[in-house]
This record gives sequence, structure tokens and C-alpha cells, in this order.
Amino acid sequence: MANLEKLVSMEDLRRRARRRMPRVAWEFLDSGTGAETALKRNRERMDAVTMVPRMMRAARTPDTSAPLLGRTWTAPIGVAPVGLQSLMWPGIEKALAAMAAERGIPYCLSTVAGESLEDIARVNPDFWFQLYAPTQEAARKDLIRRAHDAGAKALVLTVDIPRSSRRERQRRAGVGMPPKTTPRLIADVLSRPSWALATWRRGVPTMRTLAPYVPAGDMKTMAEFTAKNLGHDLTPEAVAEIRDLWPGTFIVKGVLHPEDAEKMVEIGVDAVWVSNHGGRQVDIGCAAIDALPGIVAAVGERTEIIFDSGIASGADVARAVALGAKMCFLGRGFVWGVAALGAPGAGHAEFILRDELSNVMSQLGCHRLDELKERLA
Ligand SMILES: Cc1cc2nc3c(=O)[nH]c(=O)nc-3n(C[C@H](O)[C@H](O)[C@H](O)COP(=O)(O)O)c2cc1C
Repeated sequence: MANLEKLVSMEDLRRRARRRMPRVAWEFLDSGTGAETALKRNRERMDAVTMVPRMMRAARTPDTSAPLLGRTWTAPIGVAPVGLQSLMWPGIEKALAAMAAERGIPYCLSTVAGESLEDIARVNPDFWFQLYAPTQEAARKDLIRRAHDAGAKALVLTVDIPRSSRRERQRRAGVGMPPKTTPRLIADVLSRPSWALATWRRGVPTMRTLAPYVPAGDMKTMAEFTAKNLGHDLTPEAVAEIRDLWPGTFIVKGVLHPEDAEKMVEIGVDAVWVSNHGGRQVDIGCAAIDALPGIVAAVGERTEIIFDSGIASGADVARAVALGAKMCFLGRGFVWGVAALGAPGAGHAEFILRDELSNVMSQLGCHRLDELKERLA
């Protein structure tokens, strides 16, 4: 077991995760698209957000609790949907879902995750379900019905995949579903014994939630199905139809323009999730953190604002909250935790993020999250 006292930041978890994951899985997780300018821009623009500390405020034990969608969470930190997670670390979805339930933070399962939504509901009855809407009406309606029957507390419709992205780095690394069995892949897997052993114990990863709609069931057919049928060709009318099918909390994920946010508010969403998909879709797109203030100004009074893309520390959470986010999600960050340490890494990542956030708040002289905006430089 690793010495947790030496894994004190998310970057420490990232480095250890990289050493323990097969290269092909790492490249899938870590990559952006194109020349990865959007990925780098997310980081650079986040770093450009600075705050002016106030002193003599006796803020040793700040309150990180975050109200969102009728519930108070322990911190404005959530687990974003990440597809094909079981490829990155076997059993990761259940580890993250259980950790989120125990720590009182939101957890969102991907449509293309390795576990079925019904199994995740047993581990975390408050889970949210992210929908890549299938183009076939029957599959679309059935997925929504299943999420409802399983008790999902929110439906998160992802709208930022009008088309599969080119993801050049993934292609160079031979990322595919299933990855081609080449001598290089075999050497890659054998050089990562903890991953290989865990995968051997749990079996080859697959997309369990989608299994009923892809009768052949093998990974190749499944991957072709997702590339062809999921998430594309959405219009505001199609979003409104899905809204009407879902009786509960409805969130749209992947919004960057204030007018798109306006449209979603007109449709009746409960929250707008500002995101550039972690820089994975369009390389000349703006940094997500740069889109946040405009969307907060446009619709922040009428709906709740959720944020992701580029959050890699508790300080980043403080930055996004200061700019108006009610909740910040991490995609890659939580994967680093589990890949670095196995299931206990889920809680260790959450601990680092919350502890960093709390410490930053103290240093800035903030007792509550809503004071952070007053510290913006
Ligand atoms: C490997 C990977 C797979 C992802 N899969 C999904 C997905 O299935 N559904 C979805 O809505 N977003 C998906 N995302 C986007 C994340 O939900 C989130 O928007 C993004 O990771 C945030 O950026 P961050 O990684 O910098 O935190 C994925 C991201 C990564 C890195």
C-alpha cells in the first residue's frame, strides 16, 4: 500500500495513476483533441483567476457545505460522468459511487460506463444519470424509463457531442474498442501488474447499461453502436422532448454560450452545466472557465449553474465557485485517485480536494462559499 502521507496533492495521484495504468488507458483518459490547445487553455485560464486574501477574519474552520437542487452537499465537489471507466481501473464506478454516497457529494454515472445503472443505484441510491440520447426512439425512452425506475435523482443530458471528435492522440496510441491485441498492447498490460490482476479478476470491461440495446454484445459492436447512435443531432426541440419524458430534476451538460443557456432555461431545465468536455471536443473552443461568468450573468438568477473542465485542485474549486458555480465536477481527477490507490483512492481524492478548498477559504478569510466572489482580484 502506498504511503498516503506522500500523496498530498491531486498531481501526486495523477503521477502515480499514470505509472499504474496501461498506456492505452492513460492516453484515453488524459488526451484532449487536436493539438490539445483547449486542454492546455483550460489550465492556463484557470491559473489566471487570482484572489485577494483578507486578513484578521478568524476563518480557521470554514463551512464548505454547498446547497444545490434542493439538497445541501458537504462540498461543491462532484464526480463527473466518465465513459469506459472500467477500462481505466476495474471496479472504479462502484468505488466512486460508494465514496460519493458516504461523503455526501454528487455522483453522475455515464451512459457508456462499465456498470449498469441498476447496479450503481444499489451502491448509491442518490446517483445522477448522464444521458447520451440514443437516436432510436425506443432505446431512448427505455433508458430514461430505466433511470427513473432505478431512482436516479437527476437526468443529465449531454449536448456537446454533435459529432465524435477526432482525438488524434488517442488514434496514435491505438485506443479503440476493444483495443487491438498487438505485441505492444500485451507488453503494455504486462508492465502494469496491479491493473492486469484487477482486470483478470473482474473480467473484460464492457458497457453494461447499454447491453440491452446491442444484442451482439461484444465490445466492437457496442463501440460502433455508441459512435453511430449516441448523443448526436440534438435540437432544442429534441431536448424539450426529453425534458417532457423526465419527471424529475433535469440538467443540460456542455453549454458554453449564454444564448444556449437561455434556451435551456426556457425549456425548463433545473440546472445548466457549463463544460467544454475537458477540452476533448473542439481545440479552438474557449476555456470553460472563461464561459462561466457570461452564463452566470445571463441565467444565474433563474437556474443553478454547475461547472467542470480543468478543475484539478480545491483551489480550482474555489476559483469556479467565486465566478458563480454552485457545484464543480471533476472527470479525470477522480479517476487519478482510484487508479493511484485502488478503491480507497476515491476517498483520498475527495479528502485532498475538500481539505485544499477549506484551507484556501481560510487563507482568503472566507467563512462560507458565497464570500469567495468578494475575493476575486
Ligand atoms: C475519459 C473521459 C471520458 C468521458 N466520458 C464522458 C461521458 O461518457 N459522458 C459525458 O457527459 N462526459 C464525459 N466526459 C467529460 C466529463 O464528464 C467532464 O466534462 C470532463 O472530464 C471535465 O474535465 P476534467 O477532466 O478536466 O475534470 C469524459 C471525460 C473523460 C476525460
